[in-house]
Amino acid sequence: MKKLWGGRFGEETEKAVESFTSSLPFDVRLWRYDIEGSMAHVAMLGKQKILSANEVRKILKGLKEIREEIENGKFRFMPEYEDVHMNIESALIKKAGPAGGKLHTARSRNDQVALDLRLFLRDEIKSVIKLIKWLQRVLVSLAGKHIRTIMPGYTHLQKAQPVLLSHHLLAYYDMLERDRQRLEACLTRINVLPLGSAALAGTTLPIDRKHVARLLKFPSVSENSIDAVSDRDFVIEFISAAGIIMVHLSRLSEELVLWSSDEFSFIELPDAFTTGSSIMPQKKNPDVPELVRGKSGRVFGNLMAMLTVMKGLPLSYNRDMQEDKEPLFDTVDTVKSCLHIITLMLPKIKFNKKAMKEGTGRAYLTATDVAEYLVRKGMPFREAHKVTGMMVKHCIGQKKKIESLEPSEMKRFSKMIGEDIFHFITAEASVENKKSFGGTSGKNVSARLRSLKKGGEK
Ligand code: ARG
Repeated sequence: MKKLWGGRFGEETEKAVESFTSSLPFDVRLWRYDIEGSMAHVAMLGKQKILSANEVRKILKGLKEIREEIENGKFRFMPEYEDVHMNIESALIKKAGPAGGKLHTARSRNDQVALDLRLFLRDEIKSVIKLIKWLQRVLVSLAGKHIRTIMPGYTHLQKAQPVLLSHHLLAYYDMLERDRQRLEACLTRINVLPLGSAALAGTTLPIDRKHVARLLKFPSVSENSIDAVSDRDFVIEFISAAGIIMVHLSRLSEELVLWSSDEFSFIELPDAFTTGSSIMPQKKNPDVPELVRGKSGRVFGNLMAMLTVMKGLPLSYNRDMQEDKEPLFDTVDTVKSCLHIITLMLPKIKFNKKAMKEGTGRAYLTATDVAEYLVRKGMPFREAHKVTGMMVKHCIGQKKKIESLEPSEMKRFSKMIGEDIFHFITAEASVENKKSFGGTSGKNVSARLRSLKKGGEK
């Protein structure tokens, strides 16, 4: 078959080369953006009198028909035509004749594909942001239900201090908030129109790039035609932002896996989101969070792939850059499906408040509260740390909780200890006294929840 670029070629392309170089199997998903971009381009060519009104009409009519055919599954994509761009253009030429052959005036596939990718990613980022906001709302509502639920907080996966479950959940809110901001920032750099850079040098024809930008709702136009066709920073930036989202979802998933184990028993995952074992009848496995945790790997891999594709490329466009699409598409699909499934599952999780509370009763979680009690009585912190450490050691020996020591037994460690210490060393008091800004006290967390519910943060 004669190629659109076949003029200077004496031989047909080798079949194996055709299938090796084709991006159609994956870039076909850009079709809607390709048509949208072409329509804006052609409208501009008409306004600039580069094409006649009649030619513009024919092209637009043809493009609309192609759009309908694709929507209705009637369009035949031909693998021989290399990519989605050539497929649509060839079909247009069949429909609109010589006018169709004018669509590609003052344009190259290099600026065309850069445009399509930006249009695609702009839409997709908006849906990722929507999913993030939905998950944030679920976290806020869950935190609202657990404003009094106390659990052990951990460092090094060792019990550290009592915290509110709501405070723990809102930590994820803040992580997602940074994710959202990163995507918003990424959007500002995606929103730069590359079309009109042509192959790499611009064009001799009197185009109006700002007009195309207005039609396609791009607030700005790229300044340098070489950069515009060489640049895939926005793909790398998005995948790295998505990689961080996956880190966050993976950490949440890891906690859900741990917490649903018999050892923790902090939560029960909904039956509808778990699976059984083919051999062990008693099993209920946390496959959803496990898979979210596992899928983070492919997004990190996609980032590495994109960095590697780009790192050695001379300016400007190189065919290597066709390899941007699969990592990008896979990242979009993965991050969206993971956000979605976690958001569906979270509200259905049963929290075992009793087990969480009991988890704070062992392991001397209020030792720091004892030390800070002594500090308030005037003892230097280092000494208070040592005295409390000795108390803990004594308790371990006696197999007692700190709060079960007799006042006289306590006084042996420091004369500064009075009966009032018992107001400070329960898990509830420990939490309630963490009033420093950002700390876990119910007062702080309620205030934060109020401001989040008012939408004060966004
Ligand atoms: N399919 C190509 C890609 O995805 C389109 C651009 C091809 N440009 C070219 N000069 N061969 O990158």
